[in-house]
Amino acid sequence: MQHDDAATTDIHTLEAVALTATRSAAVASYAWVGRRDQKAADAAATAAMRAALADAPGRGTVVIGEGEKDDAPMLFNGEVVGTGRGPDFDIAVDPLEGTSFCARDHPGALATIAFGVRGAFWSPGPGFYMDKIVVPAPAKDVIDLDDPPERTLEKVAGALGKQVRELRVVIMDKPRHQDLIRRVVRAGAAVQAPAGGDVGGSLAVLLPTLDVDLLLGVGGTPEGVMTAAAVRALGGGMLGRLAPQRAEEADAIRAAGLSLDRVYDCDELVSGDAFFVATGVSGGPLLGRPRERDGVTIAESLLITDGQVRHITHTTFEKARG
Ligand code: FBP
Repeated sequence: MQHDDAATTDIHTLEAVALTATRSAAVASYAWVGRRDQKAADAAATAAMRAALADAPGRGTVVIGEGEKDDAPMLFNGEVVGTGRGPDFDIAVDPLEGTSFCARDHPGALATIAFGVRGAFWSPGPGFYMDKIVVPAPAKDVIDLDDPPERTLEKVAGALGKQVRELRVVIMDKPRHQDLIRRVVRAGAAVQAPAGGDVGGSLAVLLPTLDVDLLLGVGGTPEGVMTAAAVRALGGGMLGRLAPQRAEEADAIRAAGLSLDRVYDCDELVSGDAFFVATGVSGGPLLGRPRERDGVTIAESLLITDGQVRHITHTTFEKARG
């Protein structure tokens, strides 16, 4: 986030708080992995995260919470967290991204959060869904949400020095994406189609260790803003446009004065310094699941900030009981 000397200590403390928050949420929801209870898993993650955020120095305002679209437990928009002593900052959060993965013990559930300077995060208002493209840095200048997918593939392949048939594209396996998936496969690219989890899918695009070249399709707006924090920090490319999935959602967006046509790039979705943190809940190629044994808890996290990805394996030893 900020880099002036006075702010450095605060930033490191905020990063530590964010890591504690996602780790706490991950460990709390891990207890619900495979128990087929999405609400309980989400509630456990949210409560643990809220408790951890209470220790943040300064005054954090949740500007992008999650849950309204699913009627899930949530850190609500406008909720203020922190000690009140220190900087003002904004928070975009999904304590449990991929609740159904958690409930079903499928890989890919993450505890996620982004912190930004005050005003950094774009507000989607009543928009729950947005159309997204996420690409690695070399392809950031060639993407256009109005291009047909076949053209996008050609342009991204060219920018990455590949053939279209060498591309691997993440598209969530949703009914709304069946035509998109067919067209991408027909164009010659490979499709990785998880049941959900477009934050994880976007991270796979950004991280060179995972063999994915771009993400396409419609997903949640909170997920989009958090993703943009990671994309911006790593210099990748992202475009988003509100894509309501129901008439009432479209009406509410128009009534709020937001455009359904406007395309936002990642510097508009996140317009100030920000960092992103995720901790693994149900495991997968990105981040392992928490492990608990003999009073020791191990959790795997990613901290993405200013051109850096830090993989952090945190081991907590339960203090000896007297
Ligand atoms: P949850 O955290 O609500 O479980 O979201 C998972 C997710 O797959 C996101 O990654 C994605 O952006 C969104 O849901 C898509 O929403 P929907 O499942 O309603 O299509």
